[in-house]
Amino acid sequence: MSIPYVKKDEKGITTLYVNDKPFFCKAGEIHNSSSSDPEYMKEHVWPALRGLHMNSVIAPVYWEMIEPEEGTYDFSSVRSLICQAREEGLKLIFLWFGLWKNAESMYVPAWVKKDTKTYFRAAKLGGEQMTTISPLCKAAVEKDRKAFTALMSWLREFDGEEGTVIMIQVENEIGLLGTDRDYCEAAQKAFSEQVPSAIEELTGRSGDWKSVFGDEAGEKFMAWHFACAVETIAASGRKEYALPCYANAWLRQYPWYPGSYPSGGPVVEVQDIWRSAAPSLFAFGPDIYVPYCADVMDEYASDENPLVIPEIRKDAVTASYALYAFGGKNAICYSPFGIEELSLDPSAIQAPPMEVMVALNIDPSAFNITDSCAYLSKVYGMMEEMEPLYLKYRGTPHLKAFIRHGEHDYGTILHFEKYDIAVSYAPRMEAKPLGAGLIMELEPDKFLLVGTRCTLRFMPKPGVKKTADILRLTEGTIEKGEWKQGRILNGDEKMSLQFADMPSAMMLEMYQF
Ligand code: DGJ
Repeated sequence: MSIPYVKKDEKGITTLYVNDKPFFCKAGEIHNSSSSDPEYMKEHVWPALRGLHMNSVIAPVYWEMIEPEEGTYDFSSVRSLICQAREEGLKLIFLWFGLWKNAESMYVPAWVKKDTKTYFRAAKLGGEQMTTISPLCKAAVEKDRKAFTALMSWLREFDGEEGTVIMIQVENEIGLLGTDRDYCEAAQKAFSEQVPSAIEELTGRSGDWKSVFGDEAGEKFMAWHFACAVETIAASGRKEYALPCYANAWLRQYPWYPGSYPSGGPVVEVQDIWRSAAPSLFAFGPDIYVPYCADVMDEYASDENPLVIPEIRKDAVTASYALYAFGGKNAICYSPFGIEELSLDPSAIQAPPMEVMVALNIDPSAFNITDSCAYLSKVYGMMEEMEPLYLKYRGTPHLKAFIRHGEHDYGTILHFEKYDIAVSYAPRMEAKPLGAGLIMELEPDKFLLVGTRCTLRFMPKPGVKKTADILRLTEGTIEKGEWKQGRILNGDEKMSLQFADMPSAMMLEMYQF
């Protein structure tokens, strides 16, 4: 069994391979505290995930539980998690809650937390010490490195053969909140020094941080130091067991100034610094709770940064975004947050208190799970069954995906060999998916259509003096890449090629006369 790895496939698309086969993480991230108790997992989490057609789960592992006393490791909680995932037939993506989680250091062991002299804190401009350990604190980074490396070495022994754990997120939503940068003594000194040579190469400039970056110096400085710390941790862990590692970002968002979101985290705007300082990470994933998820995906998915979405909103629109992430953006991972709640009654879920949402800058509608489970499960299921076709057509002009990007996005036009297709989105409605879909051109006149809340109109190419008409339209399902035909839709249904709320598939043969 080979270790999971990330590499470009024959079409040049960066792909995760598990057991040497492409693996698309149809995932969900569980709540922060769930995996700290195996009994809780048994009772409340695993049963809630069955039926969602997921193939992987993002679950935290906690430094404070693994190394309760310095140098004494206890992997029992990790072992239980892996054994339970195996029973469920699911892969795991570990979330290393080490030095940093949501711009704080709340998951470090008590012996680190209490020793504020050795493991010194970041400070604000006025000198106020924060709950965040400074990334310039080498002693703290070294202790995290040791613990993470011990975890990876244990993992290789325990799971190397079976390969239940397939990826690692190193730390969580790193950065500093409430300040543009760290002003502790060590940081003050480093900030006034010459920028490192890697930064000189990146920018073509030299001097101290302020003279190289001007007003943006604080965030760039933090990005460099956080990235260097994470590289120390990830590189050492990967030497023991080279699982693919990535980091996630709390987005730069309203009100836009560093410190209103964690300053120094791997947001797209400072990813060049992160890439240069942390080559052990293959991706920087966005956590997306804003209303404009598709724009964020467009921005974060690139040749240099394959799309890993470790957290995304879980209301009904998440099903549409899943289609777009895989179909349009070649995502490696898609994962709504707090996934174990998706199958609950909407009134039973514990959305974070309003003040937490405000503090975390989360759009409250992101937690309205009405009907979300059924929609997402349908998309995950279809993606699974479509995989042979998806692998064949992705990265070619024969597969195109679309999604309603925002209030003023009424539709789009897609260009194929013999047809242009006008897509119109249904208006946005609460607790419904967004207009979205994907189209595979199987032959010049034959199309597999997958969609939700949109209408399609096929037109001959401009200048072709012909009428395009439907030869045959069928509904059906895809099973292991094969079309299983259902009803033939030659009556009223064919008057408009329309997708209702529940994502579904149709096979369409066209002709022109
Ligand atoms: C983003 C964080 O990364 C998660 O751990 C969690 O705190 C969610 N926000 C909000 O519940």
